[in-house]
Amino acid sequence: MSPSGPQSVPRFPGGFLWGAATASHQVEGGAEERGRSIWDAFAAEPGRIAGGATARTACDHYRRYPEDVALMARLGLNAYRFSLSWPRILPAGRGAVSGTGAGFYDRLIDRLLEAGIEPVPTLYHWDLPQPLEDEGGWLSRGTADAFAEYTAAALDRYGDRVRRWGTLNEPFVHMAFGYAFGVHAPGKALLAGALPAAHHQLLAHARAAALIRAAGREALLVNNLTPVRPLPGGGEAAAAAARAYDALHNRLFLDPLLLGAYPELPDGWDGPLTGAVHPGDLAEIRGSADALGVNYYNPTLIAPPGPEDGLPFAMPPYTDAFPDVPTTRFGWPVVPDGLHELLTGLRERYGAALPPLLVTENGCSYDDAPDAGGRVADPERIAYLDGHLRALARAAAGGVDVRGYFAWSLLDNFEWAEGYTQRFGLVHVDFDSGERTPKDSFEWYRAWIERARAHD
Ligand code: NOJ
Repeated sequence: MSPSGPQSVPRFPGGFLWGAATASHQVEGGAEERGRSIWDAFAAEPGRIAGGATARTACDHYRRYPEDVALMARLGLNAYRFSLSWPRILPAGRGAVSGTGAGFYDRLIDRLLEAGIEPVPTLYHWDLPQPLEDEGGWLSRGTADAFAEYTAAALDRYGDRVRRWGTLNEPFVHMAFGYAFGVHAPGKALLAGALPAAHHQLLAHARAAALIRAAGREALLVNNLTPVRPLPGGGEAAAAAARAYDALHNRLFLDPLLLGAYPELPDGWDGPLTGAVHPGDLAEIRGSADALGVNYYNPTLIAPPGPEDGLPFAMPPYTDAFPDVPTTRFGWPVVPDGLHELLTGLRERYGAALPPLLVTENGCSYDDAPDAGGRVADPERIAYLDGHLRALARAAAGGVDVRGYFAWSLLDNFEWAEGYTQRFGLVHVDFDSGERTPKDSFEWYRAWIERARAHD
């Protein structure tokens, strides 16, 4: 595979969205012109983030966005997925809109539209205003009300120019890492006690979606999804553990959204959840997405739990679980067929209840660095993208209604608890100087998009 481009590109559905994605806290910087979020508080706690990094400057996209939109235009994107920073727009989480903060997204959206790129914002990508965390964060039902208020403000400001609205990003990961295991902000390790955070996020999505629809726009829920397989040879115990994991990772969000009911959960996990559900909630949640955003990185192999796990499943290290598969810098197994399995599996499981799909994130981290001549060669990323795009095209050819693909990420950025140690970008960022250097994968994706769009 040459860095200059793929030999041949399969057919994609007409009007396909060719995108790349980022998130406010991971790229913007400009921290002095927004309110404090849970990630500012988390980063201030010693030992939470690799290298003690913070996102106060990050990629400085807040100031460099014209250069970044020019890169998107060069790439040939027709869509860009980014997120709005809630604490930039509403520094206190509720109440007064900051004119300075809201003005940033006016400029960004206008610049994108001028470049022929559809802005696809996500309202919430994990940077909860700290004042709302002080009132209980996503463990509190009141956060869903505050989210509706914020959505109304954002729609009022940008609804004239934005057609597709993401509501929440990866509520599963936010609940699991932020509230169950405590490795992300807000750093709570409540295990099953985290489940109200799932329900309140779904409720927030549903309330926001109702407002988005009332404004004649489309609402998209974005979640991290993974095909779950039992460890081969693990017998019924592994199969049961895999069902438990699938229920918590995938079905906990999709079943209520698409079928109007929570799945059966492992013993001890349903109590904390059902305690949070009020009469009428599931009717509000059911059918509240016009499209589903699928973030796919890798499949998951599950083993039966051991006595020390304290969970209804065990996750063997990827290197043991996928011994013959290459892994990324994060150690994640590279399994492009998993995307095909995931997309076709969703259609099999949910049938007519499944709305159109968009792959809203897919990508990989490697130790990319410019060589002496300033070139960033990243053949592994090219192979990753090529494999996953072909898997997506096969799913579409097989009848799955998938309408877009967003590479994660446009830029190397602040990778949460990993700080700046995991580079996912098509564009290399020097975090000292802010300098951007398109990697070989950028040129490759540019050529892919050009060829794919020529079929349109
Ligand atoms: C999904 C998250 O939405 C994004 O913020 C993160 O950087 C990528 N996964 C990679 O871990």
